[in-house]
Amino acid sequence: MSFSTITEEVKVKDRALSTGEPLLDFWYPALRSARLKAGQMRRQVLLNKPLIVCRENDGAVFALDDHCPHRGMPFSYGRFDGERVECCYHGWQFDREGRCRHIPALLPDSPVKVERIRAKNYTCAEMDGLIWVFMPGPLAGKNPMPEIPRLPVFSEHYRSSIVSRKLACNVDHGIVGLMDPAHGPFVHQSFWWRSRRSIHEKSKAFEPVPQGFRMSAHTPSSNSAAYKLLNLYGEPITTTIDFVLPNVRFEQVRCGRYWFSSRTTVTPITNDECRLDFVAAWNIFQWVPLVKPVFRLFANLFIGQDQRIMEMQAEGLKDNPSLMLIDDADTQAKWYYKLKAAYLTAQRNNAPFEHPIKAPVTLRWRS
Ligand code: FES
Ligand SMILES: [Fe+2]
Repeated sequence: MSFSTITEEVKVKDRALSTGEPLLDFWYPALRSARLKAGQMRRQVLLNKPLIVCRENDGAVFALDDHCPHRGMPFSYGRFDGERVECCYHGWQFDREGRCRHIPALLPDSPVKVERIRAKNYTCAEMDGLIWVFMPGPLAGKNPMPEIPRLPVFSEHYRSSIVSRKLACNVDHGIVGLMDPAHGPFVHQSFWWRSRRSIHEKSKAFEPVPQGFRMSAHTPSSNSAAYKLLNLYGEPITTTIDFVLPNVRFEQVRCGRYWFSSRTTVTPITNDECRLDFVAAWNIFQWVPLVKPVFRLFANLFIGQDQRIMEMQAEGLKDNPSLMLIDDADTQAKWYYKLKAAYLTAQRNNAPFEHPIKAPVTLRWRS
């Protein structure tokens, strides 16, 4: 696969690759921890799979496929008592492992081995205010499970916040939008951030990292107001941005002992919907009154702008137009597709992952 120039080939291949095929054998955030109280069950579609996520009375979370193994009834129509899920059709009960524990229709001397009946269960964990589900694929059980992409923090005390938004597009368009440096002056223009007049040439160094790439530590762009505020600390400011498969963008801003760290994930829900979860932690601007609500206000504004532009794009994509990727503004998008293709190839052949980015490279664009 080659994406080097704007050719017919690039257009055709991009179309084939932007279908949003989800990558398996990774952890994905299913829902916010705060949305699931003890004894509650919620339905959540993840990578086209309907699941129920439940929180037991003791606080532990588990996830089952949202189909009863008896006749396929969604468990989500049934009940959860904080211990067992009960199907609404014939009252079969299942535990956290998906093991059947009770079938009301059976006589005491029935030979049916109830506990051999299983609903599919998913490995589930909580981290950074989200409930994560491991979506198994062909490598499950063969390779060690990867780690949940934890948000890095750099001091003991900090504040944190989560903003989640649904995006009306498949995961590929969501991620390409996330890693797209050229839409800022058009989509995110505002008096406090930047305007289209602030466009200027940028040159950024990139390097490969395992299953992804990094925009190497650099002094951030002078046209963003938030960074101008950071100058008040009088320390050199550096930003590092990573993208790693399947869907994670980390950004770190360091300024002496002050820092800001964020993790954005774009998670496939269905073939035409994904969800952006932006989790941030920081110890900067502690002196700003109401720093957290102010932060949330700006994060919502910013992410809302992305959400609206993707809704508009989704209208155009319904007609399945051909698309293109141009160098260097879309090179990160090309890398994403190459990383994804390399991952799928490695998975298919059960072979080592062959990193498509071999060496550091500098990209130049205007934004
Ligand atoms: S369909 Fe669930 S108990 Fe029969
Ligand atoms: Fe954006």
